[in-house]
Amino acid sequence: MEYQILKHEIANGIALVTISRPQALNALNTLFFNEMNHLLAALSQNKDVRVMVLTGEGKAFVAGADIAEMVNKNEREGTDFSRLGQHTFRSIEKVAFPVIAAINGFALGGGLELAMACDFRLASAKAKFGQPEVNLGLIPGFAGTQRLSRLVGVANALYLLTSAEMIGAEDALRIGLVQKVTEPELLLDESMRIANLIAAKGPKAVQLVKVCVRQGLGMSFDDGNELEAKHFGSLFGPNSQGEEGMKAFMEKRPPVWQD
Ligand code: CAA
Repeated sequence: MEYQILKHEIANGIALVTISRPQALNALNTLFFNEMNHLLAALSQNKDVRVMVLTGEGKAFVAGADIAEMVNKNEREGTDFSRLGQHTFRSIEKVAFPVIAAINGFALGGGLELAMACDFRLASAKAKFGQPEVNLGLIPGFAGTQRLSRLVGVANALYLLTSAEMIGAEDALRIGLVQKVTEPELLLDESMRIANLIAAKGPKAVQLVKVCVRQGLGMSFDDGNELEAKHFGSLFGPNSQGEEGMKAFMEKRPPVWQD
């Protein structure tokens, strides 16, 4: 597929994906969702990819769903657009490798919803966060009403969702919406540094950590423990990555991960 909005490069196990429609502050339209679904499927097939970093070009990460595309939609089309966004963002959660959001600027509406679907978030000190949909007489449509309260609690979520107030990176850090704030010029370096840490770890272990945390959230504690025990066990045995990692530790050498 010829991508018009998404740029990507893969090196050293890291897929760096940049949303590049800066003239519209990277607003999310149908083409974006089609490209993102296609790219996620392609990256999932690529055994070299261990982790993905997602960022935006220009002064925005993403300033929301594309208002110019949405304005003429009817009820059925609005529902369909919501489902397309929800499905795409769910695919980010379900993809086998961790996805890091590197939030370079505005993360508003659908942009914050996209960032929240990533596994964790690093932010430039200049980034701004908000769910301004109610300004437009709308509500979030890409699972923002569901993810925000799970990430930051009901009161923080309802404050942001009902007031449409924009908050800065330090406030986002304080409420747990982002995990780290960097100087703007250091954001990508820091994101790549953390991506490199992840890419060097036991590949199956990294994937299974994501599976256990993500799937475990929808389970009872006991069922989550069962899932963990099963996947823990799967990392043992002859020629397993767990065996290699533990042997390497005992032999005081770096591990060599085999598929
Ligand atoms: N959709 C479409 N176009 C957008 C956009 C959006 N969400 N956000 C910005 N743009 C466009 C602007 O229309 C403008 O285009 P033109 O140059 O052709 O006029 C261009 O991007 C630059 O934007 P501004 O001139 O407005 O830039 P600014 O620096 O003055 O303001 C801003 C930045 C405060 C982010 C402002 O652009 C803004 O408020 N954007 C809309 C934010 C918003 O309401 N997002 C929620 C969308 S609804 C949603 O996301 C629903 C959902 O959950 C599914």
